[in-house]
Amino acid sequence: MKTVFSGIQPSGTLTLGNYLGALQHFVGLQEDHRCFFCIVDQHAVTVPQDKLKLRHNIRSLAALYLAAGIDPQKSTLFIQSEVPAHAQLGWIMQCTAYIGELERMTQFKDKSAGKEAVSAALLTYPPLMAADILLYSTDIVPVGEDQKQHLELTRDLAERFNYKYNDIFTVPEVQIPKVGARIMSLQNPLKKMSKSDENQKGFISMLDDDNTIIKKLKSAVTDSENEIRFDRENKPGVSNLMSIFSLATGKSLQVIEKEYHGKGYGDFKQDVGEAVADLLRPVRERHNELIESAELDDILDEGADRANQSAIKMLKKAERALGLGRKKR
Ligand code: AMP
Ligand code: TRP
Repeated sequence: MKTVFSGIQPSGTLTLGNYLGALQHFVGLQEDHRCFFCIVDQHAVTVPQDKLKLRHNIRSLAALYLAAGIDPQKSTLFIQSEVPAHAQLGWIMQCTAYIGELERMTQFKDKSAGKEAVSAALLTYPPLMAADILLYSTDIVPVGEDQKQHLELTRDLAERFNYKYNDIFTVPEVQIPKVGARIMSLQNPLKKMSKSDENQKGFISMLDDDNTIIKKLKSAVTDSENEIRFDRENKPGVSNLMSIFSLATGKSLQVIEKEYHGKGYGDFKQDVGEAVADLLRPVRERHNELIESAELDDILDEGADRANQSAIKMLKKAERALGLGRKKR
């Protein structure tokens, strides 16, 4: 059975983009893979976070994973900072990475551009991400398109370590869903839908109520053609709404084009809104039941135990390969 690992940062409420591009996809993988899903709180603190909000976001993200259908019987769900081997192997991966390759990461350039106080960890974030993945002998890492570059670096670091010290790491493959890999902002369809968007109308939060969802989709930016046709280049707004509709309902893009032939944007947006509201409602309700429950703590305790057991073994192998500490007697 192949091993899957993925992580999401608890840095705000997840968006519809996270759900369609990541979570929904994870749920399907649990049936026939050994899965680890991680709340990467140590990644979140590479930029300043409010302590109370971070605490809340960690629990809320755990509840969302479960509400979306992650089954703790099938998958290991855990919090990164509760498994110390991540930071420990992260250090070793920092020793394996070169500054030059870290400075070339698009995410680092975007997040640091024009800022004065940039944490060193923003630069060394990818080696920690590599550690997350390599600790579990991961074969497959399902992520959105924006993480592809970090995955390529992870592969390079694994190969470099294997070659230099000892062949211990599995070199992981990235898996990017074909539709939904990049859900765009509702207000600027050339930009990724992101929970850190200043314009609230640009994204749909997974916890938005039905009315808010429908309102936001009704005011989504489209074009003046009034024709529902998939064409990312010339009609990015409409194409984005079509992708969302397709993922929410299971209808193909062709079927949607046919169904809405000759119809206006008003009707289409209303239907997309209702489909998204129907999709997110049960997830939101389950999240609200779980967030303050003891059940959630039990699942996370159990997840941390299981993750720790696997992670510590790989950490020891890596330390031995490097010559850290003392030889076992
Ligand atoms: P983040 O919110 O950046 O921590 O991302 C968590 C996961 O969701 C990653 O796998 C991302 O690639 C994915 N993701 C984030 N935003 C989007 C989006 N707008 N469309 C599709 N996938 C996304
Ligand atoms: N860097 C990822 C993001 O911002 C989150 C992440 C951290 C991750 N560690 C990971 C994703 C390991 C996949 C595997 O979305």
